[in-house]
Amino acid sequence: MNTENIHQSVAQIFSPTKLGPITLPTPVIKAATSEGRSPEGKVTQALIDFHLDFIKGGVGMTTLAYCAISKVGFATPGEILMARENIEGLKKFTQAMHDAGGLASAQLGHAGPLATKQITGYQPIAPSKFMNPTSFQTRREITLKEIEEITEQFAEAAEVAADSGFDAVELHFGHLYLVSAFMSPWINKRKDQYGGSIENRTRFAKEILLKVKERVKDRLAIIIKLSMDDGIKGSIWLDESTQTAKILDETGAVDAFELTMGSSVAKQMYLFHGEADIDGMAATQKGNLKWFGKKIIGEYPYKDLYMLEAARQFQPIVKNAKLILLGGINDFSHISQAFREGFHFVAIGRALLREPEIINNIIKNPYKSGLCIHCNKCMFSVYSTINCVFTKDYATSSQKAV
Ligand SMILES: Cc1cc2nc3c(=O)[nH]c(=O)nc-3n(C[C@H](O)[C@H](O)[C@H](O)COP(=O)(O)O)c2cc1C
Repeated sequence: MNTENIHQSVAQIFSPTKLGPITLPTPVIKAATSEGRSPEGKVTQALIDFHLDFIKGGVGMTTLAYCAISKVGFATPGEILMARENIEGLKKFTQAMHDAGGLASAQLGHAGPLATKQITGYQPIAPSKFMNPTSFQTRREITLKEIEEITEQFAEAAEVAADSGFDAVELHFGHLYLVSAFMSPWINKRKDQYGGSIENRTRFAKEILLKVKERVKDRLAIIIKLSMDDGIKGSIWLDESTQTAKILDETGAVDAFELTMGSSVAKQMYLFHGEADIDGMAATQKGNLKWFGKKIIGEYPYKDLYMLEAARQFQPIVKNAKLILLGGINDFSHISQAFREGFHFVAIGRALLREPEIINNIIKNPYKSGLCIHCNKCMFSVYSTINCVFTKDYATSSQKAV
C-alpha cells in the first residue's frame, strides 16, 4: 500500500462504528484483562486511571473485567462485584470513560470450575463433579435450582451495568468459566436437559442470554465472549462451537461475538500462545504448576493473529451478530487484515497493556510495529494487580473504593 492509500485506510477503519444500539468512536475494543484493582470488589481510582489510558489512547470501548455476578463467581482476587451496592463507583467509572470520549463495557461472569475456596469461601461448582487439574481441587455438581439462580444473577448484574451507564455487557461464555464449562463434554457429564446434545449444553447460555436481553432490552449492547476451541482433548472444538454460536445467534439477542480460544483450567497457554513463565505463575498459584508446569499449561509458539483461522469458520455461520476478532493483534497490518477479511471489530489485550496509546500511535504512523513482545509476564500478574512488566506501574494509584 502506498502512503496515501494507507492513510486513507487508517481514516476509514478508525471511524465511528455501530454495535447494536451503540456506536463506538473507533472499532477497537480493549479486551478483558482481569485488572485486580478492586480489593473490596468495588471501583477504585486505580481502576479508572488504568482504563482511561486506553480511551485516551484511541480505543473505542474498554472492557471492565472481570466482573463477578455473585461473590461465589469470583476467579481471582481484586475483581469487581457487579452488584447494586457498588453502583456509585460503577457510575463514576462509566462517567470517566464517557468524559474522555470512549465507551465502557462490563464483562460479566461466574468462574465456576475456576473458582477456588481460598478466594470465595465456598466449594467451587461445575456442571458435573470435576477435579480441576491445575488447582487439584474437586468441584461439586451444580443443582437445577442454582442454574436458575445464576441465570437471574446474570440478568440482575446486566441491569446494574445498564443503570451504571455501561454501553455494553460482555457475557463471559469462554475459557471454561461456568457457562462455557457447560459446553464442554469434558466437564459436562450431566444426564438432564443441560447435558448431552449441543442444544442441551448450550441451554444454560441461551437462557442467560434471553433473560439478560429481556431485562436490559436495548439499553446496552450484548457481546458474547465465546470459546471457539480450548486445546483440550474431548472438550470444546470448532465443530460444536460453531453450532453453539448459531443457536445463540438465532435468538437475535446477540449484538456481537468476541471469539476466543483456550481456557484457564488446563492448557492455559493455548489462550495466549508464546513464552510461559512457569516459575512466575507457580509462585502466584497453589496447585501443581510448580511440578508439572508445561505439561499442564501446554506449549504453543506465538503467532500474530493466531485466532484468525478459527474465527473465519464463524463468518458463514453467524448471520445476525457482528464478529470481533481477537488474538495476537499487534499493529496496523493485523488490524487492517481483520477488516479486509470482513470482521467488524478488533479486540486487543496484551498489546494494549504494553502500549495503551497504540491506536493513536498507529494513526500517526501506521507503519510502526507494536511494542508487545508476548513474553506473557503480564499473565501471572492476574493473581495480584495486572501490569505489563515493561510499562508504567499503575499499582501506584489508589486502590481505595471511590
Ligand atoms: C493479564 C491478562 C488477564 C486476562 N484476563 C481476562 C479476563 O478477565 N477475562 C477474559 O475473558 N480474558 C482475559 N484475558 C484474555 C484476553 O482478554 C485475550 O483473550 C487474550 O489475551 C488474547 O488477546 P491478545 O493476544 O490481544 O492478548 C486476559 C489476558 C491477560 C494477558
